[in-house]
Amino acid sequence: MLPGVRPGALSGIRNLPARDSDRAQSTHPSPRASHWDGNSASELPAAFAPLDLPPPEEYFQRKVALISGITGQDGSYLTEFLLEKGYTVHGIIRRSSSFNTGRLHHLYEDQHERPNKFHLHYGDLTDSTALVFLMARILPTEVYNLGAQSHVKVSFSLAEYTADVDAIGTLRLLDAIRTCGLTKHCRFYQASTSELYGLVQEVPQSETTPFYPRSPYGVAKLYAYWITINYREAYGMYAVNGILFNHESPRRGRTFVTRKITRAVAEIYENKQACLWLGNLDAQRDWGHARDYIEGMWLLLQGEQPTDFVLATGETHPVREFVEKAFGVVGIKLTWSGSGVDEEARDVKTGKVVVKVDPQYFRPAEVDLLLGNPAKAERMLGWKRQVKFDELVKEMVEADLTAVRNFVEDQN
Ligand code: NAP
Ligand code: GDD
Repeated sequence: MLPGVRPGALSGIRNLPARDSDRAQSTHPSPRASHWDGNSASELPAAFAPLDLPPPEEYFQRKVALISGITGQDGSYLTEFLLEKGYTVHGIIRRSSSFNTGRLHHLYEDQHERPNKFHLHYGDLTDSTALVFLMARILPTEVYNLGAQSHVKVSFSLAEYTADVDAIGTLRLLDAIRTCGLTKHCRFYQASTSELYGLVQEVPQSETTPFYPRSPYGVAKLYAYWITINYREAYGMYAVNGILFNHESPRRGRTFVTRKITRAVAEIYENKQACLWLGNLDAQRDWGHARDYIEGMWLLLQGEQPTDFVLATGETHPVREFVEKAFGVVGIKLTWSGSGVDEEARDVKTGKVVVKVDPQYFRPAEVDLLLGNPAKAERMLGWKRQVKFDELVKEMVEADLTAVRNFVEDQN
């Protein structure tokens, strides 16, 4: 009960802050009369508590996942994975003037095999009302927050939007869970990132390495990381961060460097493109296969206690090496010359320049080296990446070769 509110004075409404008229009674300070000090506002019951939820043990008999970012690379693999495990999967999609569900088409076609198991809903991480509505209707047991403006370079142009979606969007989703009274009824996965390490403070990076983000994207994700931990500690939620290092696949968006390279290699090999223009060839990344990381996300939500984990391969490779290996898959050997913006690579056999540097792809602040230490996940979750670097490059190039030959223009 707050000072200044007479017991029973507010019938049916508990613990509201004092009204001015109530406070007027205590204008003369006395040892017993005190003012609301701004620290003692009490919690109202969750707005959707009357949803009449069963106790968590019973509720968790169901397996219902809600995924933000379902149309993205990871969202599509996660959906396949969870459907295989018998989950009902609900995904949030953004309204778009062009199709943004290309990575999910095959799952729609699968509907007859698994009727009523896969549902898409319009929503947006910038729209709290929609998130609360979906949460209350779906009553998920697991929420995977994969939705994000996920392009680091773009985040320098769309810094405010990136913060709104990647940082505050995470808060909105967590608050939707609270609003619906689901803090003990559903588990929450936050797609945290190795970009948090940015200007790395130690090599390799682990769960205890200090963060130093280097982009508006990284900074927004730092907020999301901490708000997830804060809600875990404040409200006893099972909410965890997966700090995932770069993971790629044939479904990777085409503006990320690996997919940009593999598509260009396929186009150059098929004489549909002359040259691949890139930015910083020296940057090093710890690249794994997205499918391996999806299993890790799920494992993070199956533990006894909520804990944050790094998922990584424990290897790092420069962009230049990815380029060489990708051309190697189609039998093109490269020779490099020049340096900095003048660096270029020629096809040894034809002498043609096939790779050049374009400074427009440089970033205002770069993350030079990422190398993760996945020891904790290997030890505690039994998780380990399966696909090796060379296999990843080969799979991506071969998928792009098939796509180019079949004139497939995916919208990724
Ligand atoms: P992605 O392919 O770029 O997918 C991002 C997803 O977020 C898409 O479904 C996108 O929808 C959705 N989205 C964007 N803005 C949204 C908004 N305002 N409201 C709701 N949804 C929105 O990314 P990804 O590679 O799958 O990565 C998944 C998550 O993991 C992201 O949060 C990313 O930051 C994080 N992450 C990725 C990596 C990696 O290497 N892939 C590593 C660490 C962390 P549209 O399809 O409509 O654009
Ligand atoms: N995109 C892009 N395009 N990157 C290039 C290019 C180019 O033409 N040329 C060189 N690079 C370099 C970038 O400067 C960066 O150092 C590296 O290649 C990787 O860039 P991206 O593939 O765009 O990925 P990222 O590492 O910046 O971010 C991805 O991984 C993060 C995890 O570490 C994204 O998926 C993020 O969402 C994710 O959090």
